[in-house]
Amino acid sequence: MNIKELIKAAKEASARSYSPYSRYKVGAALLTKNGKIHTGTNIENASFPAGMCAERVALFEAIKNGDDQFEALAIYAEGENFPFPCGICRQVIAEFTSDLKIIIAKSEDDYVIKNISELLPDTFDFSV
Ligand code: THU
Repeated sequence: MNIKELIKAAKEASARSYSPYSRYKVGAALLTKNGKIHTGTNIENASFPAGMCAERVALFEAIKNGDDQFEALAIYAEGENFPFPCGICRQVIAEFTSDLKIIIAKSEDDYVIKNISELLPDTFDFSV
């Protein structure tokens, strides 16, 4: 897996962000185990809760296309802080992956790598 390439794909996706309210452009690039990349960007709405995060757009796009085996996810947003995924996105990531590498980048060469168990320990699950 080429980390730099995946970050670049996330950066390109962030350029398509629809974020007139926050002006915070987020991109996500999700690499599948068979080498495909699904991307997403944040899409906001005048009715704020109707907006969607970049990570979930990428994940849902992959699932919709029949891909559910993931290798890595790059999240890209320029700013002072690293763009750690929000709580809801962490929960959605955990639904589909346990060994995914999550690359959190605030520029092409400034990033940290985490896995989902670090970001969301003791994940909620249930059995009936
Ligand atoms: N956002 C994401 O795209 N991913 C996250 O994990 C956190 C937040 C977006 C949602 C909104 O468009 C903007 O960032 C500011 O919250």
